[in-house]
Amino acid sequence: MFICPGCLKLTINKHVRVIWKIASFNHPRRNVNVTRHGNRFFSSSSASYAKAGDEIDLAKFSPANIRNFSIIAHVDHGKSTLADRLLEITGTIPKNAGNQQVLDTLQVEKERGITVKAQTASLFHVYKGQTYLLNLIDTPGHVDFNYEVSRSLETCQGVVLLVDANQGVQAQTMANFFLAFERNLTVIPCLNKIDLYNAKPEMVLEQLNNVFDIDPDDVQKISAKVGTGVEDLLTTIIEKIPPPQGDRNKPLKCLVFDSQYDQYRGAVGNVLVIDGSVKKGDKIMSLFSKKSYEVQGTGILQPNEKLVNVLYAGQVGYIHANIKKISDFQVGDTFCHQKSPVEPLPGFKPAVSMVFAGIFPSDQSKLPVLKAAITKLTLNDSSVSVNIENSAAIGQGWRLGFLGMLHMDVFCQRLEQEFGASVVITAPNVHYKVRIKGKKNIKSYGDEVVDVLNPCKLPDLSIIEEFMEPMITATIIIPDQYLITVLSLCHARRGEPQEQTYIDQHRMVIRCIFPLNEVLVDFFDELKSITSGYASFDYEDNGYRQSELVKLEFLINKLPVEEMTMICHISKSKMRGKEVCARLKELIPRQMTYVTIQAIIGSTIIAREDIKPIKKDVLAKCYGGDVTRKNKLLNKQADYLKKLRQVGTVKIPKDTFINVLRKK
Ligand code: GTP
Repeated sequence: MFICPGCLKLTINKHVRVIWKIASFNHPRRNVNVTRHGNRFFSSSSASYAKAGDEIDLAKFSPANIRNFSIIAHVDHGKSTLADRLLEITGTIPKNAGNQQVLDTLQVEKERGITVKAQTASLFHVYKGQTYLLNLIDTPGHVDFNYEVSRSLETCQGVVLLVDANQGVQAQTMANFFLAFERNLTVIPCLNKIDLYNAKPEMVLEQLNNVFDIDPDDVQKISAKVGTGVEDLLTTIIEKIPPPQGDRNKPLKCLVFDSQYDQYRGAVGNVLVIDGSVKKGDKIMSLFSKKSYEVQGTGILQPNEKLVNVLYAGQVGYIHANIKKISDFQVGDTFCHQKSPVEPLPGFKPAVSMVFAGIFPSDQSKLPVLKAAITKLTLNDSSVSVNIENSAAIGQGWRLGFLGMLHMDVFCQRLEQEFGASVVITAPNVHYKVRIKGKKNIKSYGDEVVDVLNPCKLPDLSIIEEFMEPMITATIIIPDQYLITVLSLCHARRGEPQEQTYIDQHRMVIRCIFPLNEVLVDFFDELKSITSGYASFDYEDNGYRQSELVKLEFLINKLPVEEMTMICHISKSKMRGKEVCARLKELIPRQMTYVTIQAIIGSTIIAREDIKPIKKDVLAKCYGGDVTRKNKLLNKQADYLKKLRQVGTVKIPKDTFINVLRKK
């Protein structure tokens, strides 16, 4: 008994017994030629291309035999699992390797079980006697990483829209569908997890029809986990998604849609060749910097790198050209042959940062290490905006802009895990704007409207005419029994519900305008908890609106803690001040002396907490002669103290400022 590579079923039927002996056969029900390699079987496509020893020749793949597509869906609807199955069926990875989510390559992705980075894989598949090159991009599902999805879609002609047969249409299903729809991409709707006992395919088909006008007969039904229907999906991808347009005889034009830094080769760019071809030794030029380089290597991702001689029009792969300066291989740049300049492509819309936070090294002597780490990581994640920041209290650092709180969390985790950088993160805030009174009289402000990325840098209140705060339009999907509770949460967060519509008999979509600041940190957690986990949430930018804001500052033993300074709505300032003081009291360890925490607006104290001193010395128990143990403890304590932020005589753990804002 084993899994037949032709029909992917655990089987001992007749045709399989025969091929066990002859090691090569035509599958009776599918037009697949299967070959035996050692003790593994591959379809003929995988045998001849994916397992080729040296460089792969892609000359045979004209655009007509190429399909570029992405898998898009809400979080956890099974994108990476489907990618695993597609890689297995096409022989790109061994079968029966389990659900490893091989396209989630980062440590942070494995640990958190989420995709944060779009990942490309080139697959070869035989259909009706022809071999196709399928370039698949697995995308993240969380709203914070929508920019990855929108960039990936620029390189595709179609998408597989996965919907969980149990959960149905969710907020990111809608957001991602409309991203594909706006770009006129072919959408292959697909119901996943049909193997689940509590799957409700009929309900989800009704939702797809109501929300996107998708005919139930057009929806593929699969189980990415078990493999059911995945081979038919491959056939649909080939039949329905149009091939890329491009001409390999035209001058080279290629789009950099992603890049990463390699210690030895410098910047490595993931590219889509629009026209022409590119190979090792070619002299290429960036249309952004106008600098020229010699190509050192070209390849495709499977998902590991595989060398190819030449990348041709319509194909997706990587190139490296000894580009040492990271800023010279920008995502969105167009490259051409040095001697044949072409019109640059429009590139990508820049990502709009939603959350800003100061990032400082825990130890100022490690500033160069953190600088190198941030530069390399931002090449890999072009959606992070970077501004240098100096703080009298904390030292030199950066104010980074992120697409959301999860994005910020993941970035900081990667800084620590991949580059060993230890950082202090300030309280995150949104991008406020202030209008200055009669700007001509105020020399230091050139513009009438000033951007405030850092609350500490807010201009003096006496010269501010008005505050403006960023707004968002949120899409919330919930079972209707929670409507009242959810609406009261929206109200508490200064939300203005716009419309409520049913997507099936029991689930509804609420569209609501919120100040971004109100949903930034813990809104989604609260929404999930009041709806027993059934709500989903997505948002998009909705410009700026005038607002009554105040600057809330915190003092520890009368010294200001810059990291905690925040701007908040006047109606919430007292409550916020009290909450933060109470939380700081919990998080700051007791010290040798009294610690007083105060929240102030201007010169008015609005909240106060005190921390009593500790009485005992931590080393007091180490009396006697155990010098080694005492030294060990002293070293441990010294290491710990290095990581603390000192405000006057008070020592505070470095992650206190961000933990203050989180739910307990
Ligand atoms: P993000 O990248 O975080 O958005 O998740 P994803 O959409 O890539 O989902 P992923 O592939 O990580 O799957 C999420 C969970 O659903 C995993 O536990 C999978 O094993 C499970 N899963 C995926 N497909 C199926 C399926 O067809 N049936 C069942 N029963 N479980 C599935």
